[in-house]
Amino acid sequence: MKYDFDAYVERRGTDSVKWSGDGKELPMWVADMDFKAAPEIIDALRKRIDHGVFGYAGIPDAWYEAYGKWWDKRHGLKMKRENLIFSTGVIPSISTIIKELSNPGENVLIQSPVYHVFYSIIRNNGRNVLENPLQYRAGVYSMDFADLESKMSDSKTKLMILCNPHNPIAKIWDRESLEKVGELAEKYGVTVISDEIHCDITKPGRDYLPFAAVSEVCREISITCIAPTKTFNLAGLQTSAVYVSASSMKYKLLKALMRDDAADPNSFSTAAAIAAFENGEAWLDELREYLFDNRKMVEDFLASELPSVKAVQGDATYLVWLDLMELHDTGKNVAVKLVTDQPKSAGYTFPASVAEAHLNRNVLHETAQIMRGSTLYSYHLSGPKYRKHSMVMSSNCSALSTKALMPFVTFLISCSGSAVGS
Ligand SMILES: Cc1ncc(COP(=O)(O)O)c(C=O)c1O
Repeated sequence: MKYDFDAYVERRGTDSVKWSGDGKELPMWVADMDFKAAPEIIDALRKRIDHGVFGYAGIPDAWYEAYGKWWDKRHGLKMKRENLIFSTGVIPSISTIIKELSNPGENVLIQSPVYHVFYSIIRNNGRNVLENPLQYRAGVYSMDFADLESKMSDSKTKLMILCNPHNPIAKIWDRESLEKVGELAEKYGVTVISDEIHCDITKPGRDYLPFAAVSEVCREISITCIAPTKTFNLAGLQTSAVYVSASSMKYKLLKALMRDDAADPNSFSTAAAIAAFENGEAWLDELREYLFDNRKMVEDFLASELPSVKAVQGDATYLVWLDLMELHDTGKNVAVKLVTDQPKSAGYTFPASVAEAHLNRNVLHETAQIMRGSTLYSYHLSGPKYRKHSMVMSSNCSALSTKALMPFVTFLISCSGSAVGS
């Protein structure tokens, strides 16, 4: 490997949200990795710093070209310059789209279990969350189209947030499912917001299919949110894009993003995105090898050491979704403990850090060091449906060693009152 993903980078004391606890928490609750950015991106930022003047920044031609070339080459979607809008983040974009394309009291559809922030941006904007729960059968998730149709046909349903690849189940949606979503959305006049922020972290040899590339219908009834931030670990730079083909929505959205002050870059956000898409390909392809090696390590470990915990098969993201159903009601106990016993010191009051009361402090500290890319994803447990999904949890497995999973597994087992695993 040309790039060193094993290097340890100390993030405590660097204003990292993920590592802002008191040293006792397990930093497994937010989707950012602990790898340094690609040297190609660091060089571009250094050049920007060396210039030394940081006045208001605009969007250079190279930004449009970099997105256009990357999506054409890697994902087979041709995005014209006039259909791309800069925005400071995927969540700010979705929030603006909700405000612009629906009214208070109307419904926004989401497919649970899904990224918890979808719930809050819908509710914070005074809209209703309408869930179309995914079906989980024999270890595989799929969409429930009968339920989706009945919810789309509600005249109050104006928007659907699609997550492709889907956080947290790590699924790349297939053409048939996406096509069906498009057909139903067109039939009932629902606009699809396709959140594709995780799209570039796919299993080596696999690609995702952009919703807008499925058909003309899908392209015209959707707005796609994309970014280099998950892929290249740049979330703190606040840089993303909105792709919208339909001219009826394009200018409305540009104006709305400007109104919400989400359409202006800072001095580093376009430089980082351009460098990532122009020169980050080799780094990304090595990262994918590394992350999916880690995923395999977790899967192998569970299969041999804890067969009652299943890693749900996933071909994208650095999240591993664990099925705890065979632990009987342990999943529910775990959910309750995570919700009630979370350490209050972990940056946010977020039910995602494992309670210190349940883990030996030293082990936890050591684990935090070993797991330096790792995120335990249990946020959904705090959502309204946490009981329903309490059997599943996930962990970000960047730089994860099998050893590192052990304290968490011990915690799970201790929740059930059974003997602690070795
Ligand atoms: C599905 C999904 N969308 C959006 C975001 C956040 O995007 P941004 O930081 O650009 O607002 C995340 C972060 O974890 C995510 O998982």
